[in-house]
Amino acid sequence: MQEEILNLKNQAMAQIMSVNDASELEEIRIDLLGRNGKLTNLVKKIKEVDPEERAQVGNTLNEAKRTIETLLAQQKNNLKESAREWFDPTIPGILPKVGHLHPVTQAIREITNVFTGIGFRRVRYPEVEWDYFAFESLNMPEGHPARDEWETFFVDVPENKKYGKVVLTPHTSNGQVREMLRLKNPPIRMINIAKCYRRQSDVSHVPMFHQFEGLVIDKNISIVNLKGTLDYFARSFFGENRKTRLRPFHFQFTEPSFEIDISCGFCGGAGCRLCKAGWLELGGAGIVHPNVLKAGKIDPKIYSGFAFGWGVERSFMMKSGLSIPDVRLIYSTDLRFLSQF
Ligand code: DAH
Repeated sequence: MQEEILNLKNQAMAQIMSVNDASELEEIRIDLLGRNGKLTNLVKKIKEVDPEERAQVGNTLNEAKRTIETLLAQQKNNLKESAREWFDPTIPGILPKVGHLHPVTQAIREITNVFTGIGFRRVRYPEVEWDYFAFESLNMPEGHPARDEWETFFVDVPENKKYGKVVLTPHTSNGQVREMLRLKNPPIRMINIAKCYRRQSDVSHVPMFHQFEGLVIDKNISIVNLKGTLDYFARSFFGENRKTRLRPFHFQFTEPSFEIDISCGFCGGAGCRLCKAGWLELGGAGIVHPNVLKAGKIDPKIYSGFAFGWGVERSFMMKSGLSIPDVRLIYSTDLRFLSQF
């Protein structure tokens, strides 16, 4: 039995030393010292040993057990230490997910850069606005049928004697007379980018959206300046070979008025499924109506100006070539959509 014990001890020591993970070490411990372990079984057998030899065998057994237990503990500690200390600085780290600005914010910044680059000043005016600035001062007196185009939200608060009802501004044109009154004297070069609200919600409309509004007033401002500015915007924002065209239209606050089209980026103007014979509709523009200048306390005999305005979302979609079945997706929180931009 002496020999059996020594063999087992040697074998166990070799096994313990060669182990390199904690669960393997635990298996060895159970195999030796568990209830049915090899060493445990030898201890149980000690009764069968000759009484003369029993004390010596007992000693050998105890010694073997102590050695194995010590070695197990040491090795367990070694494994823990090495797990803690092992560090490979060349392994690539785990990057935290980084988001980005909402596509509409990106578009607003780009539009701002295009216009501030040629001397426009970005301004903002109230979203909760007086009827006066949203309509009346823009040559649309109360009851004028042209107002119907803007499906306006009214705020349920008392009217102001001078400025009338409170509305959620349905367009950024509310900034025109406000900017004239603020600056008092031309030249004025305003780019007003803001939220607008209309009572509309379907696959191509959202109740809250953004517009940008340009207003330039100075001496001798004409359609030529308007056209040049629009072409510059088309080239800078949409691409070098894009052009604009003006189509006669009607707005109360401009005379003459136009709708602006931009040459289609897909067919290059030849006409395709996406466009109307080579052109896509962008927004409205015109030469500021004398009544609007008067409301802004600017003398229409000395000064003239042009204005334009349209949707940021629409511009963004046209730029990205996006044809989405439902514009409301832009304002959803669906990252599968948003992370593409
Ligand atoms: N405010 C108009 C709209 O919401 C767009 C517009 C048309 C703005 C002509 C202008 C303009 O400044 O001159 O439909």
